[in-house]
Amino acid sequence: MHLKKQVISKTKPLKGQHMFFISILLQLTLSAVSASWSVSYKPRSMCVFERSSVDFTCSFDYPYLNTLKTTKWFKLYQKQDGSQEGIFVYHSMASEIDQLYKDRTVYANQHKNCSLQLHNVSKSDRGKYFFRLETNYLGKFTGPGGIYLDIAVLPFRVTVTMQKVNGHIHEGDSVTLRCSTETCTPQQGPFAWYKNQLLLPQATENELQISSVSHNDFGNYSCGLRNSSITSADEILLDVRYSPKNVEITILTSGKMEQGNSLTLICKSNANPAVTNYTWFKIRDANISSIGFDCEFSIKAASHKDDGQYFCTAKNDMGSQNSTIITLKVEVPTSNRHFLLTATAVFFFVIAVLLVLFGLIIRRKQITPKKLDTEQTPAVTVTEDIYENLRQSPESEESHTNLIYADLKLPSSNSERPRSNTQEGYAVIYSLLSYKD
Ligand SMILES: *[C@@H]1O[C@H](CO)[C@@H](O)[C@H](O)[C@H]1NC(C)=O
Ligand SMILES: *[C@@H]1O[C@H](CO)[C@@H](O)[C@H](O)[C@H]1NC(C)=O
Ligand SMILES: *[C@@H]1O[C@H](CO)[C@@H](O)[C@H](O)[C@H]1NC(C)=O
Ligand SMILES: *[C@@H]1O[C@H](CO)[C@@H](O)[C@H](O)[C@H]1NC(C)=O
Ligand SMILES: *[C@@H]1O[C@H](CO)[C@@H](O)[C@H](O)[C@H]1NC(C)=O
Repeated sequence: MHLKKQVISKTKPLKGQHMFFISILLQLTLSAVSASWSVSYKPRSMCVFERSSVDFTCSFDYPYLNTLKTTKWFKLYQKQDGSQEGIFVYHSMASEIDQLYKDRTVYANQHKNCSLQLHNVSKSDRGKYFFRLETNYLGKFTGPGGIYLDIAVLPFRVTVTMQKVNGHIHEGDSVTLRCSTETCTPQQGPFAWYKNQLLLPQATENELQISSVSHNDFGNYSCGLRNSSITSADEILLDVRYSPKNVEITILTSGKMEQGNSLTLICKSNANPAVTNYTWFKIRDANISSIGFDCEFSIKAASHKDDGQYFCTAKNDMGSQNSTIITLKVEVPTSNRHFLLTATAVFFFVIAVLLVLFGLIIRRKQITPKKLDTEQTPAVTVTEDIYENLRQSPESEESHTNLIYADLKLPSSNSERPRSNTQEGYAVIYSLLSYKD
């Protein structure tokens, strides 16, 4: 086993070397004997800004026994009659170079290197460029295909291409924004992209790809070059369509959320296109009912009937969304509450005073002769009861009313309220009761 391995490893490199020499020999023979005219260009097409320089990278070859006589670069241009003519951009005989290109071209002039530099390009330089070589023995060859030069004429403009080409851009679509000029898209970066005039730091290519577009991508886009004032003249709106988002209710009140005040609920959302249908719902006692179909829901004079939970639904062509639920609790105005408490206190005070007075009258009547009393026995027992009740609290009637006063937190000014106010107190209570209805 060990031996065999050694034998194999020795024979393999020998075989490889053999093949290598044969191929070298073949190549030498072929290049010497057969004709191998060739020109290779790189790149095959380019797009550059006006006034910039371009490099045409080029190499060539020709049959072994030939001697290079002439090298030239020419540009094809369309004549008015439709025929094509070449003008010399470079020529090994300098006098042949066209006036337009004199002093603007630099030829590599190295062995089998036909690279050419062209400075300060302008719109008129647009076209196809070819390299041609001529040798003695009448050997001639033009590199096929040539290099196509296009000139980017500013300003930039943004174009949008979509995977889905049917109309609008929807969330989830794949979108590509391309920064180009009217003529072509230069590869000379780095590029700058702006969304609503703000630089997008990550985007430096001439294309901005958004694989799955979202509503956050909605906005105006423009492009330009970094470290340059060159930007696109116009912005383009990436009109992403989306169903309503962030639906929420805001409440407008004419003061506090109190009885009698007006309330307006506003259904706000973010949608494109704009919301077409709003629906307002009220939840009360597990009963959901629709109560409005406008962007706003107004309550002219709020009352307890308006207590409950509310939400709205915003809808556009793309879909709909519900808002979060808000809870409405209409309060009794604080001034009314004070009034009610005062009125109640006065009421009890008056009742107490009346009872005391009544009690005194009864007591006086008891002192009068008993014979008269016996005829009115049932009446006496009733009054006796009332008198007894009053006697159970031996403190003065003043302390009794004070107790009520303390419970009801009657304002101090009211404790000195004259008794003539009694009628007013009743009137207040009555009006309040009817008001609550
Ligand atoms: C050809 O010449 C150009 C310009 O002088 C040079 O940049 C390039 O490297 C040369 N190419 C080769 C293959 O030597
Ligand atoms: C570049 O060419 C334009 C005409 O196309 C000329 O006005 C300008 O002076 C040239 N710039 C330089 C630096 O030669
Ligand atoms: C986009 O530009 C248009 C026209 O200048 C403007 O009306 C609109 O408000 C802009 N939109 C945004 C989202 O900035
Ligand atoms: C939305 O509103 C339009 C007009 O305002 C109406 O014609 C349409 O029926 C409404 N759609 C729904 C689903 O309520
Ligand atoms: C729910 O509310 C609607 C509208 O206010 C009313 O017609 C319906 O009787 C209510 N249903 C119940 C069970 O309360």
